Amino acid sequence: MALSEFLQELDALKSDASQRFEEASTQEGLESARVEFMGAKQGKLKATQKQMGTVDKADKPMAGKKLNEVKSAIDSAFEAAQSRLQAGAGGGADSAKGPRFDVTVPGATVQLGRLHPITQTIEELKDIMGRLGFSVVEGPEIEDVWHNFEALNISPEHPARDPLDNFYIGLAQATNNEPRLLRSQTSTVQIRVMEKTKPPIRIISLGRVYRPDEVDATHYPMFHQMEGLLIDQRVTMSDLKSVLRLFATSYLGGDVHIRFRPSFFPFTEPSVEADYYWDGRWVEFGGAGMVDPAVLTAVGYDPEQVTGFAFGLGIERLCMMRHNIRDIRHLFNNDTRFLSQF
Ligand code: PHE
Repeated sequence: MALSEFLQELDALKSDASQRFEEASTQEGLESARVEFMGAKQGKLKATQKQMGTVDKADKPMAGKKLNEVKSAIDSAFEAAQSRLQAGAGGGADSAKGPRFDVTVPGATVQLGRLHPITQTIEELKDIMGRLGFSVVEGPEIEDVWHNFEALNISPEHPARDPLDNFYIGLAQATNNEPRLLRSQTSTVQIRVMEKTKPPIRIISLGRVYRPDEVDATHYPMFHQMEGLLIDQRVTMSDLKSVLRLFATSYLGGDVHIRFRPSFFPFTEPSVEADYYWDGRWVEFGGAGMVDPAVLTAVGYDPEQVTGFAFGLGIERLCMMRHNIRDIRHLFNNDTRFLSQF
């Protein structure tokens, strides 16, 4: 065989083999192409190699050199095809063994959480009161007798201190007659703020309070209150009424009517129950009044110099009225079918 013919045959073999390797789309296809070209017994490369015996002796070095080149070119074409199939098995990034990514499979829905309706109400109340100039303060939920009763002018004999009406903590072990309790009202925060701050004061405090009430549609042993406190010179009852009315119209919308009924709290004088006219009836929203001089004295203020008002509203009731929720237990059962409506 002439040298040129042999060289041509090698070139043809090289491009055939490369093409077949490149076209192989499965491991099986690539393997059969490998056997066809590189097979040790019947492979086409082997057959061509055998023909070298018929090339002129003088041309043999040239033919051998070309044969080696073609052999290694075919080898690398095979290796390239093999790594292409391995890497490409997952459509790109995945390994050949991993599952293929099927873009037609429906995705899993991500369940987004949301704020609890009470939390949403609290945020809105802070917003409204913030616009009226009240800043937010917090107080502890575990209180001492001074802040929950004493400083609020609630005397030792007062029924509000009854162990049956409060969650005292470790009453039996209490030393120095200083038991602690879960606060029964947010009015505790009034005392804490006035003890630390000079007037004028204009704050609200929103948080949990605890009372051992029987659970029913309107009672729960834990609920939330918004306490308000304003102390300054010459503060009057009409300031209290204006603030509560502005609050009501902002929160409930429209021109909401409000009414004061005489009441009694040891820490305010005079004291009132505040009602809002809502949905055709009067609804009680909480207690309020002018801060009692005894309380101002207890925190070191001079009742001749400053006066102020305080109020305490039930947050659950505000939330339930607005959303037409009829049973307070819905708010704390944590049933997502209920909660996801808000
Ligand atoms: N602390 C009272 C209650 O829990 C409400 C209140 C607050 C009344 C402030 C007057 C002034 O019932």
